[in-house]
Amino acid sequence: MSNDHEIENLSTETRHFPPSAEFAANAIAKPDLYEKAKSDRLAFWAEQANKLHWHKPFTETLDWSNAPFARWFHDGELNVSYNCLDRHVENDLGKRVALFFEGEPGDTAVYTYQQLLEEVKKAANVLIKLGVKPGDRVAIYMPMIPEAVIAMQAVARIGAVHSVVFGGFSADSLAQRIQDAEAKVIITADGGYRKGRASALKPNVDGALADGKCPSVSKVLVVERTKQEVAWDDSIDVWWHEMMATVDTEHVAEPFPAEQPLFILYTSGTTGKPKGILHTSGGYLTQASYTHKNVFDLHDKTDVYWCTADIGWITGHSYVAYGPLANAATQVIYEGTPDTPDWGRWWDIAAKYNVTILYTAPTAIRSFMKMGREVVQHYDLSSIRVLGSVGEPINPEAWVWYREVIGGNKAPIVDTWWQTETGAIMISPLPGVTDAKPGSAQVPLPGIDAKVLDDEGKHVGPGHGGYLAVTEPWPSMLRGIWGDPERFKETYWSRFEGTYFAGDGAKYDDDGDIWLLGRVDDVMNVSGHRLSTTEIESALVAHPYVAEAAVVGAKDETTGQAVVAFCIMKRSQAEKTMNELDVSKELREHVAKEIGPIAKPRQIFVVNELPKTRSGKIMRRLLRDVAEDRPVGDVTTLADTSVMDSISGKMSTAPSED
Ligand code: PRX
Repeated sequence: MSNDHEIENLSTETRHFPPSAEFAANAIAKPDLYEKAKSDRLAFWAEQANKLHWHKPFTETLDWSNAPFARWFHDGELNVSYNCLDRHVENDLGKRVALFFEGEPGDTAVYTYQQLLEEVKKAANVLIKLGVKPGDRVAIYMPMIPEAVIAMQAVARIGAVHSVVFGGFSADSLAQRIQDAEAKVIITADGGYRKGRASALKPNVDGALADGKCPSVSKVLVVERTKQEVAWDDSIDVWWHEMMATVDTEHVAEPFPAEQPLFILYTSGTTGKPKGILHTSGGYLTQASYTHKNVFDLHDKTDVYWCTADIGWITGHSYVAYGPLANAATQVIYEGTPDTPDWGRWWDIAAKYNVTILYTAPTAIRSFMKMGREVVQHYDLSSIRVLGSVGEPINPEAWVWYREVIGGNKAPIVDTWWQTETGAIMISPLPGVTDAKPGSAQVPLPGIDAKVLDDEGKHVGPGHGGYLAVTEPWPSMLRGIWGDPERFKETYWSRFEGTYFAGDGAKYDDDGDIWLLGRVDDVMNVSGHRLSTTEIESALVAHPYVAEAAVVGAKDETTGQAVVAFCIMKRSQAEKTMNELDVSKELREHVAKEIGPIAKPRQIFVVNELPKTRSGKIMRRLLRDVAEDRPVGDVTTLADTSVMDSISGKMSTAPSED
């Protein structure tokens, strides 16, 4: 969590940006939405749900009798993919563009709703042909190409459950997730384009399946993207394009119960084992579409929406693959990195497609700030009218830069707080309604009850800080942790009785607006991506050099937090008087290989001891002080109070990595 000094700075922010009269007059969300939701919360959610197409209407909105296991709209039946595609085509929107795809090398593709539906129908038939049945799990490990969205929609269409694994994860991380979900089929690609070159994916799938590690997998469906060489096993590998060319083109979307599992998405927790967050159909789609429409002020006929998130993260699920399609939006998807071929790439794309709504992460904004506003000002971004931020707290400086340079000093910014677990946006201003305040996510959305609580679970009230909690169930809430109901109860529902504990610290300012202060547990947030300290520590101690490791998230100007590791070497290794830089390089590569490049520590410090309490718990707080280069806090609970002197002394001479 941020230190007290920073908290005070945040709550003295006095700049307000009220919506313009014109924006407010045309906004989708009106101020009475709050009152409406407050007067009858469940009726409000039922009304939102009824904007979807139900094959069989629901009669009960929420069943919370078996809390914390919720059922929303449970006796209703729907098809998620029908809601995202068929119904728009039936409503004469078949010719509307659903996806503008921009490949990193500059290739492009356009899919209308009609064309996207045709592809999804075929892909659904391919999955059926490969033996996928409702409820079966399908792993998706793909670059950010249209087939990724088609694959997700196809899995949903047949009532199966996808588990998208971010393409930056290693073969081992992929294997772990496939095993946990017992995926039957994997959809992947030969590779994708990143940073100006073809980056292979299929070899990681081969690695994950090697030595019979994933016996549940019967087929690997491979999209041809980069045409690079791939190893091929005829007994398991099949080409997407060959299958798509042979299957039936018609597929009727069958209804499934509202609580049909839709996807599992793994996210880091406080242990070494990622949690498979489970989301289901009706409630998830209800909140994804309601928030997408109201928070981004989507005028589906005229807007061009672009969310820069990869489908490997929850944002790429709710605000690329589902919410926008459920709302018949026209959206842009981009395969590559923002700096390829140069830092103008995103703005070139935004100008080319006349993007009106842009949703991205503070890390990206800070990277552009570093490059200088001239890079952006080269492009005509006058079409942009709403800006969104997600994944980590946005500092007021970056917020103001975003508004001025990208938003032409007029576009409202929505700072959206939510999590993999919440499934959709929970706390955010509403454009056209809320006076925006740089750096604050501000208020729970209509229909959402979130509060800042103290240690005892009491509401703290304006001007005070504590823990963020969601005090009433919400439609897109996680339904559990795959295969581990006890961990679900323990992690989220035991800190405060009957209330969802989010794991974030937060504070109200004097107006009662919420400011997010970062995680209060051992979860780091690097570039808006969640990483577990324990998971990286386990990877480090699995290396033959390392005896013990402690990992902390240290403040980083660009990425929000960065991974910093403190390692004790094994005696035999230490005696070899290894060059510290070599050790550090070797260990950083090792973590990248074990977990994925995103988990690679920024710095690794070789130390002789780690600060521990008498009960043996590593005091990460003290290591964070050292990593962030400030005076070390209270050491009185340490078993050996001299340890920190030795570590701090070491730091002043320790080598720093790139
Ligand atoms: O700490 C909060 C931070 O990201 C965490 C959730 O991470 P993940 O499940 O990966 O989902 C990220 C995309 C929704 C939260 O516990 N976080 C997310 N959005 C914000 C945020 N912190 C501050 N402000 C936000 N707008």
